[in-house]
Amino acid sequence: MLFKNAPIGIFDSGVGGLSVARAIRKELPDERIIYFADQAHVPYGSRTLNEVRTFAEEISRFLLHEGVKLIVVACNAASAAALYSLREKFSDISFVGMEPAVKPAAENTQSGIVGVLATPATFQGALYASVVERFANGVHLLQDTCPGLVDQIENGELDTLKTEKILERALNPMLTEGIDTVVLGCTHYPFVIPTIQKICGPQVRVIDPAPAIAKQVRRLLDNSDLFALPFSSGSLGLSGKRNIRILTSGSVLNLQKILPVLIGENLPVERVSWLSSNRLFDHPVD
Ligand code: DGL
Repeated sequence: MLFKNAPIGIFDSGVGGLSVARAIRKELPDERIIYFADQAHVPYGSRTLNEVRTFAEEISRFLLHEGVKLIVVACNAASAAALYSLREKFSDISFVGMEPAVKPAAENTQSGIVGVLATPATFQGALYASVVERFANGVHLLQDTCPGLVDQIENGELDTLKTEKILERALNPMLTEGIDTVVLGCTHYPFVIPTIQKICGPQVRVIDPAPAIAKQVRRLLDNSDLFALPFSSGSLGLSGKRNIRILTSGSVLNLQKILPVLIGENLPVERVSWLSSNRLFDHPVD
């Protein structure tokens, strides 16, 4: 049984999924959110798909235990590794996953050349291959894994020289080839859109998938009649701070420190420790 006023669960390897949480809070201000940052294991992008799948399954189990009504896998790498298996394993609940926004990019590019920035796990997954096969439609895709960029964003270094250099190394060759669109295939990357735009210039379109994901969450809640009742937050003036709980498996202090840099808010952060490499809390093994 799912409850209207139950929270939406959102998770990522770290702070990246906050770009998605931000869009969901904007689209659905009455909803409560539990955000889980698996900073004990960040980055996911350079791990094996099997390993990421184990983390994603255990975090989903944990969020279900917390009573969530829907889970957003706000991580392209975890979606690539686990979305199919999560839907199979936890079939009572809806999952919204991320996939690089190749479709809108291919539909709108004028030059026919599009840059895709994502982590190695995302490029390796079957999900990306299927998106390319279904939607690239003859458009030339140039890919880069931007080594080190996730770590920079985890440290709140959104516009330092090092961050700029990482992005220049990835984007300059793409610009020379004639890209007019950049797809952000990692939820961390929207936090460096100003730096990307500075390198690429205003004529290049940068696609942040978060608003489309927020709309998809709205549609799913609507279809299953699961919108939160307004009194749970908004109408009592409880929206904002109190409608999001932020949990990390890493350092509470570090996350608290960079939240204002990333989302412009000071919010409390709670710690959840992994009991072992595949266990977040005590439950019967399946
Ligand atoms: N933010 C994640 C993604 O969308 C993962 C980045 C990482 O941990 O490597 O892929």
